[in-house]
Amino acid sequence: MCSEIVVWTYDLWKIYKTPYGMISALRGVSFSVRRGEIVGIHGPSGSGKTTLLKILAGLERPDRGEVIVDGYDLNQLDENGLAMLRNTIVGLIPQDYGLIEELTVYENIELPLLLARVPKEERHSRVIELIEYIGLKGREKARPKQLSGGEKQRVAIARALSNTPSVLLADEPTANLDQENAIKVLELFKQVNRDFGTTIIIVSHDPKVLDYVDRSFVIRNGVLREVSPQEALGSS
Ligand SMILES: Nc1ncnc2c1ncn2[C@@H]1O[C@H](COP(=O)(O)OP(=O)(O)OP(=O)(O)O)[C@@H](O)[C@H]1O
Ligand SMILES: [Mg+2]
Repeated sequence: MCSEIVVWTYDLWKIYKTPYGMISALRGVSFSVRRGEIVGIHGPSGSGKTTLLKILAGLERPDRGEVIVDGYDLNQLDENGLAMLRNTIVGLIPQDYGLIEELTVYENIELPLLLARVPKEERHSRVIELIEYIGLKGREKARPKQLSGGEKQRVAIARALSNTPSVLLADEPTANLDQENAIKVLELFKQVNRDFGTTIIIVSHDPKVLDYVDRSFVIRNGVLREVSPQEALGSS
């Protein structure tokens, strides 16, 4: 495995100001992920998992600290730079899938390619290739509400992969799935990692995820640390 660092953070803080006071969602998070690794981040509800992924994806800015993703210093990027990062470097699979209900499976997967101004023919072949890859051939015209949870999750994965990102960020990808579909989704991550060398960060409560990751971290009250597989199992 190549030991190049692809995600690096140092002393990341995120503080939300609410009418009821300040919430410190991240409190000095420092960690790194090597290219080609799959890592798991486990932690209870409200511990800061989604906040961390949003910062890595350039959707939120930290209040303090450094973030470097595939060589880009996120603090140095303006809004256009962050949009470029989201379109080409990072693929985020949100906790609720984030699919657009009015669009078909095909159109949902095509959307990031449209935004990146990929020419039509190239877009078409890429979308068809991805639909086959996730095993949904024949469902191109279906809308999200006609799909099962596992199928929606796979469409969200295909959409996140459309611009061949270096880093895939998956927020609770098995939370709403039964055992069989959860395993299918985790196998798909393993396959993506093998086929494209994509670095994958999976945030989860689910102990099954531990069988699919190279390293695990636990986050509690906004504080992250690396743990052994046994310790991660205890905290899932
Ligand atoms: N936009 C926001 N405004 C105010 N507080 C927020 C906001 N987003 C998150 N928080 C707070 O920050 C803390 C961390 O939230 P976050 O969504 O990162 O947790 P999480 O670990 O993903 O939880 P879950 O497992 O339930 O998805 C929580 O206390 C949450 O209420
Ligand atoms: Mg969350």
